Amino acid sequence: MKRRQWRAAAPVAAALAILGPLGWWWQGSLTPDTYSVMDMGHPDYGGGDRTGHAAMHHGGATVTALTGPRDRPADVSVTLVARAEQIHLPDGRSLAGYTLNHASPGPEIRARQGQLVEVRLVNESVPDGVTLHWHGYDVPNAEDGVAGVTQDAVAPGADHVYRFVAADAGTYWYHSHQVSHEQVRLGLFGALVVGPPSGPPAAVDHLALVHTYAGRRTIAGRSGETRVVAASGSTVRVRLVNTDQGTVRAWLSNAAYRVVAVDGRDTTAPPPVTGAALVLPAGGRADVEFAVPDTGGAVRVDVGAGTALVVGPEGAAASATVEPKASVDPLSYGAPAPIGFDPGAATRRFEYRIGRRPGFLDGRPGLWWTINGRMYPDVPMYMVSGGDVVRMTIANSSGETHPMHLHGHHAVVLSRNGVAATGSPWWTDSLEVADGETYEIAFLADNPGVWVDHCHNLPHAAEGLLAHLAYTGVTTPFRIGGDGHNHPE
Ligand code: C2O
Ligand code: CU
Repeated sequence: MKRRQWRAAAPVAAALAILGPLGWWWQGSLTPDTYSVMDMGHPDYGGGDRTGHAAMHHGGATVTALTGPRDRPADVSVTLVARAEQIHLPDGRSLAGYTLNHASPGPEIRARQGQLVEVRLVNESVPDGVTLHWHGYDVPNAEDGVAGVTQDAVAPGADHVYRFVAADAGTYWYHSHQVSHEQVRLGLFGALVVGPPSGPPAAVDHLALVHTYAGRRTIAGRSGETRVVAASGSTVRVRLVNTDQGTVRAWLSNAAYRVVAVDGRDTTAPPPVTGAALVLPAGGRADVEFAVPDTGGAVRVDVGAGTALVVGPEGAAASATVEPKASVDPLSYGAPAPIGFDPGAATRRFEYRIGRRPGFLDGRPGLWWTINGRMYPDVPMYMVSGGDVVRMTIANSSGETHPMHLHGHHAVVLSRNGVAATGSPWWTDSLEVADGETYEIAFLADNPGVWVDHCHNLPHAAEGLLAHLAYTGVTTPFRIGGDGHNHPE
């Protein structure tokens, strides 16, 4: 080759040397228009038994068989109609979004433990389709409401019935799990509160769904102050639910409080708290209990951005205090109690290491999340069998915080950054894992199915911070994309 020709060819060769692998990398990132999550990524057996994997491919159970009771009569029966329309917020603002029975938040569903809850979801006019997921409620898999995993999205004009026994008491919420990063932000959610089987409810039991509509933080759609009437000296329970994408800190003025439940699970011997805020990860809940002072004043429950509940007699004032810097640490709050299984006898051990690197996600260049060094859809499929004791290490070195949410199970926190939990058992379904943190959690595999395990900062999930937990022998007939137009995140 003559020198001049070589000079011309060199940049081309150099470009090819760079673009060739880039093109291959780009192409490799493309997800097909329709796929099954069962074919996604790579199975991870966590050092446990692999035999169920064969069963999975030889006609094991499918999620459609894993329903709640079908023939028992319903004790609580609700119809929710989803619409794309203007939301008229109680604080006077209006915005284009989604409603359930013409409201956002949707109706509060209240049940007692042991009752059968039946919810008929009708999609009147949400073009992308809708579903309902019972966040934090460990329902049978077919009732879990994840488009493309446990059902097809409910198209406009169609409906879908969910049935489950309200086995656990506590504070939960429901939301659409179809295009959820948009539908939840724009209003498709509400609360699910399950009380004890009998007995009178607390004197004042107030639900506080925290949600940011069009940039303004609200409690039940109301920004600023909301008055909750309660007599002097009475005991009040406030159920805080964070339906936003980011962390919410709540604090009280004019009373000490106890954190009586976290993520729907009662705490053991919760001590009174003063001068510390309560951290609610995205998707997380906490019930606080306090007494209205018998001196005539009110208690203020702040959730940030000037939005607060003022709890006390009509007209009673509560002066606001500044947001405390300290936070209640569930790792050491309350007293230990038995958890019902032995994490030392783990039969599976998994890692869920969250990082970030440049690459292509479905052909789009960017800085994307990784799980164990790989990018969606090349993420682990955590494989378990019924009865397994599972330990999982969740480590985050991605530069941002991630509220991690495993469907269908409650996990208990064993340690954070190597420091063992010493307080009331910290049961959680929405666990904030800050940048630089490592949590070790454990749970019992007692709810067969295919379950999503994702970040509840929902745009992060839509950007691929999502994996699945699957039981050996269980598979799903539903597909992402395809005829069902299923886009769960
Ligand atoms: Cu609150 Cu996968 O969801
Ligand atoms: Cu995240």
